[in-house]
Amino acid sequence: MKLQITLAILLTTLLTARADTAAVYSKQCAKCHGTEGQGDTKMGKKLGSKDYTDSEVQKKVTDEAMARAIKEGLKVDGKTKMKGFEDLTDKEITGLVALMREFAKK
Ligand code: HEC
Repeated sequence: MKLQITLAILLTTLLTARADTAAVYSKQCAKCHGTEGQGDTKMGKKLGSKDYTDSEVQKKVTDEAMARAIKEGLKVDGKTKMKGFEDLTDKEITGLVALMREFAKK
C-alpha cells in the first residue's frame, strides 16, 4: 500500500514536470521553433529556425550546446538569433532539451 502511494506520487511528479516543460515550450519557444519543432512559424522563418524534426539537424548539436543556448542565448555572426532565458531553472532547461530531442523521434 505504501509502495503504491509512493509510486503514484512519483508518477504524478514526473507527469507534472513534463506538462510544465511543455507549457514553457509552447509559451516561450513555439513562436519561433514551431509547436513540433519545425521552425516554420513567421518569426522562425525570419530568424532562420532550423527544422528539429530532422534527425540530421539534431545530430549537429550537442545537449550541452542546446542547454547553453537556452540559458545564455544564441548569436550567429554577431547577430542575436535567440535571447537567453535566464529565469529558467537547470531542471526546466534539461526538460526542454529532452522535449526538443523528441521532435525528431516522431
Ligand atoms: C525569437 C525566436 C526564438 C525564440 C523565442 C526561441 N528561439 Fe531557440 N533559436 C532561435 C533561432 C533563430 C535559432 C538558431 C537556428 C536554430 O537552431 O533553429 C535558435 C536555436 C536554438 C537551439 C539550438 C542551439 C544551438 O547551439 O544550435 C535550441 C536548443 C533552442 N533554440 C531552444 C529554444 C528554447 C528551448 C526556447 C524557449 C525557451 C527557444 N529556443 C526560444 C529562435 C528562437
